[in-house]
Amino acid sequence: MEIRPLKLKDLEKVRELEISCIREYFSKILENKWEDLPEDWKDNLGSTSRKSFKTYLSSGLSFVAEEDGEIIGFIFAQMLHNIYDAENIVWIDNMGVHSYFRRLGIGYKLMEAMMEEGHKQGAGIIHSAIQPDNKPSIMLHKKLGFFMDRREIALFDMNDYKKNKSL
Ligand SMILES: CC(C)(COP(=O)(O)OP(=O)(O)OC[C@H]1O[C@@H](n2cnc3c(N)ncnc32)[C@H](O)[C@@H]1OP(=O)(O)O)[C@@H](O)C(=O)NCCC(=O)NCCS
Repeated sequence: MEIRPLKLKDLEKVRELEISCIREYFSKILENKWEDLPEDWKDNLGSTSRKSFKTYLSSGLSFVAEEDGEIIGFIFAQMLHNIYDAENIVWIDNMGVHSYFRRLGIGYKLMEAMMEEGHKQGAGIIHSAIQPDNKPSIMLHKKLGFFMDRREIALFDMNDYKKNKSL
């Protein structure tokens, strides 16, 4: 198994894996069946979507785990600036490991690769948004020494703002 930087040629395989991780998550929180969700909405999901992939490709902070030519894990991150009193802050957008290969240290190694590159690029902080019920992810971050208080991130969909304005 090799951990290496994300490449353009990975797009198809890494999108497939990211979508399967997103489906796994949605199957726990959404009542709708995946097949019933709107296609254009699904197309925009994830760091591998058409609008996001290039950002994560060019950041130098995204890595994949490859085994026998197959992508079995990924981490997508980019550098943001001047947030939380830090000039450079790594934002982890998503990570995942194929269910068959979990608990083998791959997630940990992906994080390590991203952290090493973040350090080289001058990051002061790494930010990772974790669902409070995602025990594997919480435990992984704790093992790496992430500080976790009870903060939550509140999201607002600007489409709702536009809709309300037009009422
Ligand atoms: C979270 C995830 C990426 C972890 O990847 P992984 O390769 O299985 O993790 P690792 O094997 O590197 O685990 C490293 C450490 O994390 C913790 N950990 C990982 N999975 C765990 C689990 N199911 N239960 C408890 N601790 C866990 C352990 O401390 C583990 O070290 P140990 O095996 O020596 O005890 C993986 O579970 C996954 O893809 N989940 C679905 C997608 C997801 O939730 N992504 C995170 C979005 S923020």
